[in-house]
Amino acid sequence: MLNVLNDGLNHSANSLAKYFKCSLASIHFLVSQLQKYNVDVVNIDGYGIRLNKPIVWLDTELIARHTLMKSERFDLRLFDIIDSTNNYLLSQLKRNTLIQRSSPVVIAEFQTNGRGREGRIWQCGFGNGLMFSLCWRFEKGVSDLSGLSLVVGIAILRVLRSYSIPNINIKWPNDILCNYYKLAGILIEIRGEVCGPSCAVIGIGINFNLSKSIIPLIGQRVTDLSSVTGNLIDRNLVLGKLLSELYNVLDDFAYYGFSYFKKEWISYHSYEGCEVDLIIPNGLTITGIVDGVTDDGAICLLTLEGRKSFNVGNISIRPRIQ
Ligand code: BTN
Repeated sequence: MLNVLNDGLNHSANSLAKYFKCSLASIHFLVSQLQKYNVDVVNIDGYGIRLNKPIVWLDTELIARHTLMKSERFDLRLFDIIDSTNNYLLSQLKRNTLIQRSSPVVIAEFQTNGRGREGRIWQCGFGNGLMFSLCWRFEKGVSDLSGLSLVVGIAILRVLRSYSIPNINIKWPNDILCNYYKLAGILIEIRGEVCGPSCAVIGIGINFNLSKSIIPLIGQRVTDLSSVTGNLIDRNLVLGKLLSELYNVLDDFAYYGFSYFKKEWISYHSYEGCEVDLIIPNGLTITGIVDGVTDDGAICLLTLEGRKSFNVGNISIRPRIQ
C-alpha cells in the first residue's frame, strides 16, 4: 500500500481496491493501519487517499555504498518493524550469536517499543526517521567507557553539521538539539566485564520527517531535519556517513579515551557558560554555571561551594529572575 501511495498522487479507494483485488472495507482498514504507524496519510472522502510526503525507503546496499568502507566492516540488518533495535542486539549478545569480525547494525523503519534514556519511550512514525543500533566491542572494561555517549554525540554532530544546518548543538550528556528542540537521541547499553572486554549497544534515533500526528504524542519540544533544512534528506546517505564517522570516533575513543575529544565536545555544548539547574537522581537540584566536562565526560558546574563534577542528572537552563 505504501509503495503504491508513494507516488504522491491521490488514489481513490475504489482504484486501490481494484489494484489490490480486495474490498473497500479492506482498503479503509489498511489506511487505518497506516495511521496507527503514524504515517502521514491524507484520506479525504471524495478526493482520495495520498501520502502527505513521500518516503525514501532505507536500502542496505545504498547505506553500505555511502559508508565508503569495506562492506565487511558492518553487518547491516534492516527490518520494516521491530520492537526495538537495541533490544534486538541485546538479546543477540545474551545468546552470543553476534559475529565478532564485523559490527552488527540493526536498522528499522518502525519500532513498536522504541526506548529512550531513563525509561522514556522513543516514538517515531513509519519511515519518519532513522532508528538504528550498532554493537561495538571494546577491549576496555565497562568502567572505562564513561564518556562513550558523549563521543557518539560528536559523530552525529559532525555529520549533521556537514549539511550546514545552523544551531545544532549537544545538551549534556547526549541530546542532539536544534534551536533547543530535540532532533536526535542516543541510548547506550553496556554489557561485559569491569576490566574488559565489553560490548556497547549504541542506539541512535534521528527525526527526519515527523508526521503531524506524532508530535503531540512525544511530550517534549521536538524538531526534525526536514523542518530545519526545508528539504527531504536521504536517510541512506546520512546513515552511511554516520557509520563511517562512528567507526572513526569509536576507534579513537578505544585508543585515546574521552579526553582526546573533550575540547571538540565542549565547543558543541549548547549550555556551556550558562547558569543551569542539574537535577540528580536523588531529586536534589544543584545550581551552577557550566564549566566544561571532565576527562571522562562528567559535567562541571561552578557552584557556590566551588567547582563540582557530576556523572548523572538532567540539566535545564535556569530561568533569569528579572
Ligand atoms: C533518548 O534521547 O532518550 C535516547 C533515544 C534513543 C532512541 C534510539 S532509536 C534506535 C534505538 N532503539 C531504541 O529502542 N532506542 C534507540
